[in-house]
Amino acid sequence: MKKIIASIIMAGLAVFAASAQIRIATPNTEMIIDGELGGDLCFMYYGNILSDTDMESLSTAGVPWNDVYPVYGIWTDGERALEVTHSDGNLSTCLKVESVSTRQEPSAKVTVIRMKDTAYPFYVNVCYRAYEDVDMIETWTEIENREKKPVKLTRFDSGSIPIRYGNVWLTHLAGSANNEGRLIQEPLERGMLVLRNKDGVRNTHTDHPEVMFSLDGKPLEHTGQVIGAALCYSGNYELRVHTHGGSYHEFYAGINPDNSAYTLEPKEIFTTPVLAFTYSDEGHGGASRNFHRWARKYKLANGTQTRKILLNSWEGVGVHINEEVMDQMMGDIASMGGELFVMDDGWFGDKYPRNNDRQGLGDWCVDKTKLPNGVQGLISAADSHGIKFGLWIEPEMVNTESELYEKHPDWVIKGLVHETKHGRGGTQMVLDLSNPEVQDFIFNVVDKIMTENPDLDYIKWDANASVMNHGSQYLPKDKQSHLFIEYHRGLINVCERIRAKYPKLTMQSCATGGGRANYGLMPYFDEFWVSDNSDALQRIHIQWGTSYFYPANAMAAHISAVPNWILDRRTSLKYRIDVAMSGRLGMEVQPKHMTEEEKDFCRKAIAEYKKIRPVVQLGDLYRLVSPYEGHNMASLMYVSEDKSEAAFFWWKTELMWSDLVPRMKMAGLDPDKKYVVHELNRVDNDELDYEGKTFTGKFLMEYGLEMPFKHWVDSELHRSDWTSRVLHLTECK
Ligand code: DGJ
Repeated sequence: MKKIIASIIMAGLAVFAASAQIRIATPNTEMIIDGELGGDLCFMYYGNILSDTDMESLSTAGVPWNDVYPVYGIWTDGERALEVTHSDGNLSTCLKVESVSTRQEPSAKVTVIRMKDTAYPFYVNVCYRAYEDVDMIETWTEIENREKKPVKLTRFDSGSIPIRYGNVWLTHLAGSANNEGRLIQEPLERGMLVLRNKDGVRNTHTDHPEVMFSLDGKPLEHTGQVIGAALCYSGNYELRVHTHGGSYHEFYAGINPDNSAYTLEPKEIFTTPVLAFTYSDEGHGGASRNFHRWARKYKLANGTQTRKILLNSWEGVGVHINEEVMDQMMGDIASMGGELFVMDDGWFGDKYPRNNDRQGLGDWCVDKTKLPNGVQGLISAADSHGIKFGLWIEPEMVNTESELYEKHPDWVIKGLVHETKHGRGGTQMVLDLSNPEVQDFIFNVVDKIMTENPDLDYIKWDANASVMNHGSQYLPKDKQSHLFIEYHRGLINVCERIRAKYPKLTMQSCATGGGRANYGLMPYFDEFWVSDNSDALQRIHIQWGTSYFYPANAMAAHISAVPNWILDRRTSLKYRIDVAMSGRLGMEVQPKHMTEEEKDFCRKAIAEYKKIRPVVQLGDLYRLVSPYEGHNMASLMYVSEDKSEAAFFWWKTELMWSDLVPRMKMAGLDPDKKYVVHELNRVDNDELDYEGKTFTGKFLMEYGLEMPFKHWVDSELHRSDWTSRVLHLTECK
């Protein structure tokens, strides 16, 4: 049996002179790889922590022995994680383990396996970060050129993992703008399944760079073995599952290499994005909860904090901003118990005022004709209403009708020889973030706003175009293929600078709705706008899918007006509230158009939400009935970590008489605790029979409660096709 032979501990860095089985362990899970010095780096195991006995015998049980980081050349068939043209033109690479070292971080252990090519001074560090308090393992690689001349990288995945062939199902997200996060579940067949993005700027409207593999058949919510993976990257990505004649589905994930060949200069190191893995034997629910815990603790700005309840101006007034309207909206949201007002698009521009989407982007100065007292005047007004103030920017973009473009036509991404295509409004272009001057400009946009308005509480950062034209006026001719990669390096650089200076500022990532819900950007953003589609019924589906990978405090969900601006559907105010309350609650309306009865209902709902906000935003998610499963309803709940409290949500998605609605069995509660049930946002004339009654967690989970399928109401306000219930469960000692 191969064993770790020796280790030398030096200043917190353990270097193994020779090693074989490397254990990358989290509290409940571990990944085991074989990395004997001078040998190949082979994958052995990923699952629950093994006992010493099983560890001893593992290699005899049949393990994959697949290369952990397959490279092209010695074998030319099959998929590879890394493809390189060496400085002499050779396409072949052969890596062997040179050393293994570990270092301790405050909450994680990092293991670095250094591999060297047998013929070239060309190195790859395969790195792992294993968290000590969440079951997540991150992997990435550092590709280093020590050859005398440049090396060309034509594929550069972050990592790969073999998954034993069988009845394996893949769960992933798909969709489009206004229909993000659609849940797709499919059995893995033979062949190649590719999820990828080429937008250049926004990467989560269609597929997402996150997946779950259900290892033992059709995915189940509470049981079954699941491996989840998330590529933490904001740019073009490619996830591949290759199933050929062998016994394993091979999963690869990394930056999409299409049109992105990378010239690695001598001494340069190319670091790939983090690919994060989780394993759970508690089904999709367990994997989601692992993602959420990791996100809140490590991957989401201010992730362990709850978010403010806000009103955003976009759906209410569009670009028709002025002081009087802003003040009225602030007064209204404050009177309903809101805590923050966000002024969206339309507040800026001097020579080219932002009165429509043809002009103004790039000119981040207040339009004094609309707002004579500037942002500071609005912050003071917000203060007098007892709320905070935030604003919208789209700093990576420019309109050709702007002072910025007049001054810096060289800063845009454009066709270098061919005609240039424009985006929104017929004039929108993308600034070239590969250019450090552009990075400085964008940092300064935020820095100037914050310096002039230190009490600004929130920034909504939008991005409404794809790269559209391949052409950087900054990058040299022979490095035009670096554009997509350098753009995202530039973006992260700007985000890091902003966060270093303004760690407490709340920032929302938005990109034509949910185009930027990715773990590449989340460390710099507190939340993301899940979708521009704020129709409550479709939002149930969108938020459901998104919840597979993202926690509720990252998911902005707003109560909007009816008919819905995207779908023209009319849902009841209660329904819209009950859906928005399952995420980070906000509003997206002109409250002036609401009746006093509607405002009063919102006021009460906001007060109720404040009670359940910690459990919704920071609790553990248990999905109960999926809207994708055809039961004409959906239900989920959040349970506090100590299981003393829960918030239960139930929505009908179709109303039919004699519809066989399932009885609602709850999950995640403590079977031995007793819970009092209280309905929130009640509209029915009569209380639920179990209002105020006490049940054990065991009863609620094993037998459950019936949900009346329709509301019995007098008020016209609450008469609706769309019914819903929210229950608050509190422990009764
Ligand atoms: C697209 C966003 O998704 C919307 O919420 C809004 O901010 C508009 N842009 C403003 O132009």
